[in-house]
Amino acid sequence: MRRLILLVVMFSWLGSLAANLPALIQNIPNRATTSLDGPWQAIIDPYETGLNARFYLNAKAKDKHELVEYDFDRSDALNVPGDWNSQKKELFFYEGPVWYKKSFSYHKREHTRVFVYFGAANYFTRVYLNGQALGEHEGGFTPFNFEVTGQIRDGDNFLVAEVNNTRRRDAVPTVNTDWWNYGGLTRDVTLAEVPESFIQDYTVQLARGSSNEIAGWVQLSGSTSAQKVTIEIPEAGIKQSFATDATGRAEFRFPAKLELWSPNHPRLYDVSVSSGSDKVHDAIGFRTIETRGTQILLNGKPIFLRGIAMHEEAPVRGGRAFSPEDAQTLLGWAKELGCNFVRLTHYPHSENMTRLADRMGLMVWSEIPVYWDIDWENPATLQNAENQLREMIARDHNRASVILWSISNETPVKPARTAFLRQLAEAARQQDSTRLITSAMNHVDEAGPDTRALNDPLGEYLDVLGLNEYLGWYGGRPEDADRMQWKFAWDKPVIVSEFGAGTPYGRHGDADERWTEEYQASLYQHQITMLKKIPALAGMSPWVLMDFHSPRRLLPGTQDYFNRKGLVSNLGQHKQAFYVLQKFYQEMDSVQ
Ligand code: GCU
Repeated sequence: MRRLILLVVMFSWLGSLAANLPALIQNIPNRATTSLDGPWQAIIDPYETGLNARFYLNAKAKDKHELVEYDFDRSDALNVPGDWNSQKKELFFYEGPVWYKKSFSYHKREHTRVFVYFGAANYFTRVYLNGQALGEHEGGFTPFNFEVTGQIRDGDNFLVAEVNNTRRRDAVPTVNTDWWNYGGLTRDVTLAEVPESFIQDYTVQLARGSSNEIAGWVQLSGSTSAQKVTIEIPEAGIKQSFATDATGRAEFRFPAKLELWSPNHPRLYDVSVSSGSDKVHDAIGFRTIETRGTQILLNGKPIFLRGIAMHEEAPVRGGRAFSPEDAQTLLGWAKELGCNFVRLTHYPHSENMTRLADRMGLMVWSEIPVYWDIDWENPATLQNAENQLREMIARDHNRASVILWSISNETPVKPARTAFLRQLAEAARQQDSTRLITSAMNHVDEAGPDTRALNDPLGEYLDVLGLNEYLGWYGGRPEDADRMQWKFAWDKPVIVSEFGAGTPYGRHGDADERWTEEYQASLYQHQITMLKKIPALAGMSPWVLMDFHSPRRLLPGTQDYFNRKGLVSNLGQHKQAFYVLQKFYQEMDSVQ
């Protein structure tokens, strides 16, 4: 007990160690920006020679005597955004450092500040502008930005980023995952130009538990004195102004008559936030999300989450997905399935995905990659996980579609882990009290021949219990599900966040023959029978929308580095089970 208290005290102190990264700028898509996407020169540097050799200087031999053993401009290019593994066959298995260089010219304007914004870079990134270090970022799936007002030149500039996806025991995720460790500048790189005093961040959402009051805040950067900020929602006849305090922050709450966002009516409003010389527009939906006993209530009404789990992998071309088109294809299949919910696993997906979910009316489970058995007792690992959590929430806290923050997936039941995750749950609530906190758990107890019980102590700190169970695949037979009963230690809503079976598209056989479409379809049938009998069931997200690359899936002729549990193949071919789930969701939608 004394050790547990010590752990909690240590974690709370460590939790407050704010990341030394500049605060994230909200809503980059609607700012004045210059894209740095496209081909970047790249040096593959397996031994990280570039650090001592200072590749970030982008040096050239000045004369025939000088020794310079690298040359970006004579190096191959890699496309940004994009992982390197799917761009070059010889880099498919590559894990290590890669140095990227982008030359660009820039015209500085008076009274503006400039930031370089990375949508994401996997995994550990060092950034330099014109040879000067800007900073570092750890975490492969969340955005980060650096101010470059002082470093950027009027004219020619060069930006260098060292991206290293080497897996580490103390990292988040750690060394073992069931997804491909795609490395690189995997999302857009953007220069954002803002006024000297600008709107750094804001939240404009319905107040917790209210459907007719807006509550939120605006945070200015660079403001020296109290400033007037104005929130406008013209379509709702709203125009409200407030004064910031000395730190540039204004908190507000005011009545509002709004059409509420929901899957059947994904109403988004044009909201503008302005102050002094800055004004930002955003498309924001307004909805409430809460629990009542074992129910999830959207806008005060019980709703069943008809979902599917998915990785951020590009259909057909493969590699890390990043574009609006990738998102459209993946979420389009979820809609075709009859979904009103998607579990984005096991890391925050791109802003293209969550903004499209806003428009398509798909509720979202967003998760940080605290996956399997990480280094629970390492304070740096906790701080890293908290940083990723903070960045995930900071980017998407105005997205109506995002209803659940997930702090982990399939983690072992032990005190250090539970204390670690308890800390994350509290940090999430502190940062955002309007959404539900969950986790996917998979440690269940036998509570009788045909009864399983979820008693994981983590459940106490969650609003919604996520259950991953692979009855009929990693244990038992599909038909065992027909008799299975489930018990839960908490009177909370349950989402069966994973179940599934693998088959290559087009592999056929008897329903009891593994690796066939018939087996997968049959397993879905039996699972649906079982799930219907769980009183606390408030949603489901079977594993998984599309076959995806995994370094753990090695069965020749069947897996070939693919996890084949998709309902759709990586080439977009729909398997039989796709239609089993579609039929169930359509039936459900017709009665809801
Ligand atoms: C786990 C895990 C997934 C994995 C899946 C599988 O439950 O959460 O990441 O891919 O099972 O085994 O296919």
